[in-house]
Amino acid sequence: MTQIPDMTQVFDTMRSGLAIVTTAYRRKPAGCTTTWISRVSFEPPLVAVFLSPQRGTLEMIRKGKRFAINFLAEDGLALARQFGFSSGADKFADVQYETGQTGAPILRAAVSYLDCRLERIEKFGDHEMVLGKVQHAAIQRPDAPAVYDPATFFLNGERAESANEAHHG
Ligand SMILES: Cc1cc2nc3c(=O)[nH]c(=O)nc-3n(C[C@H](O)[C@H](O)[C@H](O)COP(=O)(O)O)c2cc1C
Repeated sequence: MTQIPDMTQVFDTMRSGLAIVTTAYRRKPAGCTTTWISRVSFEPPLVAVFLSPQRGTLEMIRKGKRFAINFLAEDGLALARQFGFSSGADKFADVQYETGQTGAPILRAAVSYLDCRLERIEKFGDHEMVLGKVQHAAIQRPDAPAVYDPATFFLNGERAESANEAHHG
């Protein structure tokens, strides 16, 4: 195992948005909190999210061949908790969403979203790159988007693990 001293701490200085990546297969929704997100190309319009092979959401994206990146507002921490620490479709029980153009769930609470068709999934080390072609993009609310900061991300009144730890848990 390659040990790079302080790499996790440096990762924690990389600011990113806080999103719920959603998908659906046979009308069953799936989704998980995600911070490893990147723009890849304007033309064609490509974006990527990086998911651990353990995520149920990844398997559902593989089958459903679609996903949406729902960017949360600053008031979205409860949703981040709901989708970031458990697995399965129960997470959607009390969540309002519509079906996007690709069939992926679009969360009503999201500030904005990118609705994507799956291009491909490729494994790099311990994560899989989920590459998507954007089919539709929209801003839904004028609110400020959440910026994930592990030092101030409080869950259940306790300081959260860093994204990297929550992520690997
Ligand atoms: C703040 C936060 C950020 C996260 N970012 C990622 C991420 O970028 N990639 C990933 O694979 N997991 C990430 N996770 C972990 C998943 O959201 C979590 O394991 C989730 O319960 C998986 O649900 P699923 O099995 O239904 O897909 C994050 C969790 C939290 C709390």
